[in-house]
Amino acid sequence: MTRRITVRVNGVVETADVDPRRSLLAFLREDLDLTGAKEGCNEGECGACVVLVDGKPINSCLMLAVEADGREITTIEGLARDGALHPLQRAFLRHQALQCGFCTPGMILTAAGLLAENPDPTEDEVRRALSGNLCRCTGYRQILDAVLEAAAEMRGAVGKEVVR
Ligand code: FES
Ligand code: FES
Repeated sequence: MTRRITVRVNGVVETADVDPRRSLLAFLREDLDLTGAKEGCNEGECGACVVLVDGKPINSCLMLAVEADGREITTIEGLARDGALHPLQRAFLRHQALQCGFCTPGMILTAAGLLAENPDPTEDEVRRALSGNLCRCTGYRQILDAVLEAAAEMRGAVGKEVVR
């Protein structure tokens, strides 16, 4: 037995019949071929699967696709605008804040959710926001620097204050 859902994913309305037990992560990756959200632990521990649901970072492995019915989803594939990378994506590149890249979509979308709520976070606030996102490669320093620099750029503060 399936249930019909309609979601807007990266600005595109998608209607599908899904198994009520199907996770949002599986729906995005397997049904919509949006493989940017990664399956790490599949139990809410690693943050690799984070997407924005109505602007809030959510572990999509823990959310059922049917719970997303009527909601707005943003995946990493939808963050760039008109062919231009998002400031967070550019800052991650500048700071080499990724190695294997497995954690990167979740890191960036978690940070995007933070900056939407708090455009001028302290380093501690960034650390707390990213505390559910695990990275096995970078040691986190470059990630923190990238998020703080992107925040400054998004506030228009680059060049007006010291950017870490
Ligand atoms: S795969 Fe969802 S939190 Fe790890
Ligand atoms: S860059 Fe490899 S897990 Fe973060």
